[in-house]
Amino acid sequence: MADEPIPLAKPVLGEAEERAVIEVLRSGQLSLGPKLGEFERLFAERLGVPHASAVSSGTAGLHLALRAVGVGPGDEVITSPFSFVASANAIIYCGATPVFADIDPVTLNLDPAAAEAAITPRTKAILPVHIFGYPADMPAFERIAQQHGLAIVEDACEALGARHADGVAVGARGNPAVFGFYANKQLTTGEGGMVTLGDPAMKERIDSERNQGRAPDMGWLDHDRLGFNYRLSDIACALGVAQLGRLDEMLAARAHVATLYREALASIDGLTLPCEDLDGNSRGWFVFVVQLPAGVDRNAVISQLASVGIQSKPYLPAIHLSGFYRERFAHRDGEYPHCERVADHSLALPFFPEMGERQTSRVSRALSRILARFG
Ligand SMILES: Cc1ncc(COP(=O)(O)O)c(C=O)c1O
Repeated sequence: MADEPIPLAKPVLGEAEERAVIEVLRSGQLSLGPKLGEFERLFAERLGVPHASAVSSGTAGLHLALRAVGVGPGDEVITSPFSFVASANAIIYCGATPVFADIDPVTLNLDPAAAEAAITPRTKAILPVHIFGYPADMPAFERIAQQHGLAIVEDACEALGARHADGVAVGARGNPAVFGFYANKQLTTGEGGMVTLGDPAMKERIDSERNQGRAPDMGWLDHDRLGFNYRLSDIACALGVAQLGRLDEMLAARAHVATLYREALASIDGLTLPCEDLDGNSRGWFVFVVQLPAGVDRNAVISQLASVGIQSKPYLPAIHLSGFYRERFAHRDGEYPHCERVADHSLALPFFPEMGERQTSRVSRALSRILARFG
C-alpha cells in the first residue's frame, strides 16, 4: 500500500472550534459582536500586552499599524528582504518606500547594523520581521529607533509563542506588533490577524480605521476619517478563542516535531537546520525550513519528494528580486547577499502539530536518499 501523502501544513481543528462557530451562527450576530472583544482581550492577556485589535489579515494589520505610527507618502521604512512579501507591500500601501537591509545569516532576521546603515533623512520607521518564529533582536532595534527618532512596527505574523531573552513574549514590548492567523499559522481563524500594542490612542485609531473610519461612539454611517473594511468576523473571532484554548498544546506539539526533525536530519551532510535558540531567545515554531547544500537542484528535490507523497516548497524567495520589486525599485541580484544565498537554498518541509515520528523519519529518509544522488 502506498504511503499517505504528507502535506506541508495542517490546522488542528476539533469539536471546540465547531461548537464555537455554531454558537455564533445561532446567535445571529456574525460581525462586531461579543466575540470580537473577547478574542482581543484573551489574546492580549495571553501575551501580557495592554491592547489588541483583531483585523481581517496580517497584511491588513501591518497596513493599519504602519499608518498608526505615522508612516505616509514620501517616507522610507527599513525592513527585511527575507520575508513574506506582505511585510514590504504594506509599506507601499502607505505611499512609502520599503528600504531593505541584509539579514543575519544565522537567525535569518534583519541585521540591526545593516538596518542602521540604511537610515536616511527620509527614514520614518523600522519594520523587523520575526522570521520563521525566531525573535528579531528588538533591544538593538529599539536602541537604534530611539537614537534616530524612528518608529517601530513588528511583523510577528510567524511568531506566536516566541519569547525574547528577557522573558517578554514577542509582540508584547509595546511597539505595534502584528500576528497572522492564516490556516498554516500556529493559531488559525482561516484568515485573520491581530495588532498588539501598548498605546490606547493607537488602538482607538486602528479600531476606527479597520471599520471604515468610524469612532466607537458614532452611528453606522458616520465616518470622521478615512478607513477600510479590515474587520474580523465574529465567526473568525470565535474560532480564534477556541484555538487559544489549545494554543499551549499546539505550540508544544510543534516544538516536539522540530526536535524529531533535528534528530532525524542531523546526519545529513551539508544540510543546514534552523538555528537553535540563542542567548535566551526562544522560537515559536511555525515552519521547519532547511537550507540545502550548495549545488543541489532544489526543484528536482521538490519534485522527487512530491513523487513519494511529500509536499515541500522553496520558502522564502527574496522580496527584492520578485518581478514587481525589480521593476518598481530597480532591484538587482547581489544587493543583499546573505538573504539571496538563503533564499536560493531554503526548503520548507512538512510541519504541523499532528506529525509523528513515523512521518518525520519518512521525510528525512526520503530527503537523505534524494540528496545522496547529488553527492
Ligand atoms: C512574515 C509574514 N508577514 C505577513 C504575513 C501576512 O499575513 P496574512 O496572510 O494574514 O495577510 C505573513 C503571512 O503569511 C507572514 O508570514
